[in-house]
Order: sequence, then structure tokens, then C-alpha cells
Amino acid sequence: MIRDPETFNILLDTVSRLVREKLIPREEEVTEADEIPADIVADMRTMGLFGLTIPEEYGGLGFTSEEEVLTSMALCYASPVFRSRVGTNTGIGAQGIVIDGTAEQKQKYLPRLATGEITGAFALTEPESGSDAGSLKTTARRDGDYYVLNGTKRYITNAPEAGVFTVMARTDLQSKDAKGVSAFIVERNTPGLSVGPADRKMGQRGSHTADVIFDNVRVPVSSIIGGKEGQGFKTAMKVLDKARLNIAAVCVGAAERLLDEALRYAKERQQFGKPIAEFQLVQAMLADSKAEIYAARSMVLEAARKKDNGTSITMEASCAKLFASEMVGRVADRAVQIHGGAGYMQASAVERLYRDVRLFRLFEGTSQIQQLVIARHMLRGD
Ligand code: CAA
Repeated sequence: MIRDPETFNILLDTVSRLVREKLIPREEEVTEADEIPADIVADMRTMGLFGLTIPEEYGGLGFTSEEEVLTSMALCYASPVFRSRVGTNTGIGAQGIVIDGTAEQKQKYLPRLATGEITGAFALTEPESGSDAGSLKTTARRDGDYYVLNGTKRYITNAPEAGVFTVMARTDLQSKDAKGVSAFIVERNTPGLSVGPADRKMGQRGSHTADVIFDNVRVPVSSIIGGKEGQGFKTAMKVLDKARLNIAAVCVGAAERLLDEALRYAKERQQFGKPIAEFQLVQAMLADSKAEIYAARSMVLEAARKKDNGTSITMEASCAKLFASEMVGRVADRAVQIHGGAGYMQASAVERLYRDVRLFRLFEGTSQIQQLVIARHMLRGD
């Protein structure tokens, strides 16, 4: 659903201009420095990108799902690390509070998350609990009016930048599965909370992940999301439903960029006396990529519209994430292939993007987890 097409198109044009005039020209700089320059973060703040999906009453833009995915596609025409800086905040870093938070929690955190004054991060994964998220071991032991958190979270996007974390921890200490898990809002400066050094990753330079360590971190009882124990795993899954659809949109944006890079190169590069774009084997790679991007784009938009109509899209989000993340992997591979040796060189955007997009088949649920979610829904007859 697009609430006001005229206003929305103006914003989308502004995002596209930002992408072409400011973000793409500075991708190399971001890769070299492993940092998004402060002036770009400031520009993204001014445009409201940190609060895209936070309700308007809390200072965000209150985007519908369709508006959100179209914006992510446009933004991810530039390196996906720019989206990661804002998207993790407006997405998994804030949505636990948006979806399940109490009125007081929303009032306390959402306005500052919406402006980008503080960055939110989502702390689910642990050293021994990745795909089997319900088996997490971080504990939250009740002690009077407080909970005491102990444990380690791993690969937490934006942890070095974060001011507030949504932390899934076990409140039923006897339990071993999803039922004993609760979600907490934990502020960065809480004593006992520390962030490890930034991870050295295959790609996505400029977007940071790190361990978050909880050593007897005391948080007030009021920081449990929704005020009720045992709901944290469901909160995390609801957040991921939304996030997975958005990652599918991110994949579409990145694939469109990769294909444009490949097409431009194919038209310029001469071999056997003519541009390689005139050879049918190259055309086949371009055409397959175009068709697959169109399919992914259509899936994402259909699922987003369904969500805006109030229908649960758990299965559709997994279908879109599975297809789009695998699709962008194939498109990236073809883009490198079309570039030949030039695509293997670090000076080439497709070499960098090839490594960046590999992440999309892994995070926010691997392709195999998406298959599992889809099959479970099919077997249940949903
Ligand atoms: N919405 C609401 N509730 C949901 C739900 C959803 N989408 N999915 C599950 N639930 C509920 C179930 O109904 C069930 O409730 P009841 O007990 O009341 O019946 C409860 O949650 C437990 O569900 P399951 O039995 O299905 O749980 P499971 O242990 O079998 O796990 C899983 C299911 C799909 C495998 C899940 O563990 C999963 O998604 N794993 C992947 C984790 C993941 O995506 N991690 C990514 C971390 S974030 C990230 O990567 C980004 C970053 O940068 C940090």
C-alpha cells in the first residue's frame, strides 16, 4: 500500500539522487576506511531513513511494507552497507519495540531511534545457537526488581554503533527451548555490557558486526519487551518476518545494480571485433538475470501488499528471502563472469558486490531455514 503516491515518489526520487550523487561515488572510500563517513550518516538522518518504519506518532515516517521495500530496493542500488547502517536500526533494531513493546517502552525509545540519535541492534545469535535460535543460552535471572543477564551474543550487526539492544535471553532457567525465552531492551552503557572488536568479514566493509558480552548486566523489570516473560522468541520471529521480506528487497536492489554494471561492461567491452553484448552466450546471462530480478521484485511487492492488508506473511517472507538471496548470488556470479578477468579485480564494483551479497543467503535465517519454514507451513496446510 502506498499511502500518498505523490509524496512517496518525491522521497523515492530523493533516495535515488542520494544513491547516484553521493553513495555510489563514495563506495571505494567506505571500503577502504571500513566506515561510513559521518556526513553521509548525517544526510541519511536528515532524510528520515533511520525512522522509515517507526510510527509517525513516535517521529518516524510510518512506512507501509510496500513503501519500505521500494525504498530498500532504491537504496540498495548503492553498496548494501549504507542500508545496513539505517536498515538494521529501523528494522530488527527497533521492530521488537514497535511490534510488542509497551506504551512506555515505545515512548522512551522510538523517538530517539527514529531520528537516529541512537542506533538499535538485535541480539539473538550466540556462539552455539545460530539456526536453532530457540536453544539460546544467555540467561536473565530475576533478582527483585531487576533481571541479571549473562551470556555472549555473536555477529551482532551495528553492535559497535548501537545505543540500545533488543536481547533475547532465557528467563525460565529450567527450559531448553523457545518457550523460556524473553526479549529485553538493554542500553549500551549498562554496567557489565561490553562489545568485542569488530569482526573481520568476507565483505560488507563499512558495516560492522561484533560480539556483545553480558557479565552480570542488571536491567530493571520494566525492560522486558511487552512486560511479559516467555514471549521473547515470538517477538524475535515476528521481527524476522518483517526483516526477511526487507532483505529480499535489498537483494533486488543489489541485483539491479549488478546487472546494470554487467550490461554497461558488455556494451563497452570489445572482443572478436565487436561488443561482447552482441554475443548470444553473454545475452543469455543478461536475460536470465533480468527475468530472475523481475520475479524476485514481483514476489517482494506481492508479499508486502499482502502484509499491508493485514495478512500473516511468515511463509511468503521466507519464500521471498530464499528466492531473492539465491537469485542475487546467481546474478553476482554472472556479472563477474561477464566482466571476465576485470571482474576478479578489486577495482571492480562487481568483485566487491559479489562478496557483499554472499551474506544474504546466511543472515536473518539461512536459505535452509527459509526452506524449513516454508515446508512447515505447507505441511500444516497454511
Ligand atoms: N511469528 C510468531 N510466532 C512464531 C513465528 C512467527 N513467525 N515463528 C514461530 N513462532 C512461534 C511458534 O508458533 C511457537 O509458538 P508456540 O510454542 O506457542 O506453539 C514458538 O514460536 C516456537 O516456534 P517453533 O516451534 O517453530 O520454533 P523452533 O525452535 O522449531 O524454531 C526456526 C523455528 C524457524 C528454526 C527458528 O529458530 C529460526 O527462524 N531460526 C533462524 C534464526 C535466525 O533467523 N537468525 C538470524 C538472526 S538475526 C540476523 O542474522 C541479523 C543480524 O545482523 C544480527
